[in-house]
Amino acid sequence: MRFYITIMALLLSSVVASPIARVNNRDRLESEAAIKKRFPMKGPGDGAGVAGITGREWIELSFKLHDICACLGFGSEEQKKQLIWRRLEGTVRMTFGLMEPSHGSDATFIKTKATRAVKDGVEGWTINGMKMWQSNQHKATHCIVFARTSGNPGNAIGITAFFVPAKAEGVKVLSYEWTFNMPTDLATVSFTNIFVPDSAIFGPINNGLAIAQSFVHENRIRQAASSLGATVFCITESVKYARQRKPFGEELAKNQAIQFPLVELAMQAEMLRLLIRKTAWEMDRMEQKEVERNISDKVSMCNYWANRLCTQAADRAIQVHGGIGYSRHKPFEHIYRHHRRYRITEDSEEIQMRKVAAYLFGYIGLKKEAFSKL
Ligand SMILES: *[C@@H]1O[C@H](CO)[C@@H](O)[C@H](O)[C@H]1NC(C)=O
Repeated sequence: MRFYITIMALLLSSVVASPIARVNNRDRLESEAAIKKRFPMKGPGDGAGVAGITGREWIELSFKLHDICACLGFGSEEQKKQLIWRRLEGTVRMTFGLMEPSHGSDATFIKTKATRAVKDGVEGWTINGMKMWQSNQHKATHCIVFARTSGNPGNAIGITAFFVPAKAEGVKVLSYEWTFNMPTDLATVSFTNIFVPDSAIFGPINNGLAIAQSFVHENRIRQAASSLGATVFCITESVKYARQRKPFGEELAKNQAIQFPLVELAMQAEMLRLLIRKTAWEMDRMEQKEVERNISDKVSMCNYWANRLCTQAADRAIQVHGGIGYSRHKPFEHIYRHHRRYRITEDSEEIQMRKVAAYLFGYIGLKKEAFSKL
């Protein structure tokens, strides 16, 4: 997790030595090097909430790291050795197989099953099932597949994650989904009678959902940072355009009808940045269990507000830019489509709000005990 937050902090902040990034030096150096290579930044003070990165590049980046973080947190020593550095080099790529055609947020009901098996004298598991929305499937060397290994549908316990070679016999890509006028790398994949040895188990047996929990927390705040970056980009570009464009001989920016909506967005972006940084900073200092108990609601707040704000900012940027903003000469329609997805993935706005509500009303979290006595 720390590794991840560091990267997020680097991107989010032009202040490289931000306290969010106070982590293990080695991780930090490695992540800085990887990021700098990909997105050369001028350094602190280049005015870069988004480090001069367009929405498009954020998108690429956003897919790069989550599996490394999961592997750092839950992989065996052997898996870490085998997968992480090769992943950074680009010779290993992983999908994250939790969702299925008929189960999304209700992951405890997944139908993919793994049963005990022996093949050529090796103890292991046979996996059968189907997964949907597998990002990067076309380039994947491994699929992380969540399957029920014990218990009943609806039980949180009894689900285990496995590393399955993406090219194993029995792995079949059925389709890549088109979404909101974008072709994607999000595949629907079937797994038929796939044998994996015990060493393919990723994380705790029967408690694979802990990986998913940690993954979604990290991804929720990562998405929030990404949406904030894209929001700031949309605002900044709109402001510049409004100063340059002179309909009827006057700067567009002189109109309060142009100013005020951008003021509202800019103000919310400022507030959101503080909440994201505070939450990320706290996450760096907590074990996953504490994140879940103490600040899961804050992570959800960051997530749903940032993602919603970004779609509003992209929509506003299109409006300020007029026809050219609606075209692909500008990135706003792409940002809109991409971040619109974030209002659904890593759980929908409604699931985030449900989480915030559960903390607010003390059904879970720190107030649970006190509120049970009301
Ligand atoms: C989480 O909350 C508990 C209860 O308020 C508190 O004792 C603990 O210090 C908090 N954890 C962190 C890391 O802040």
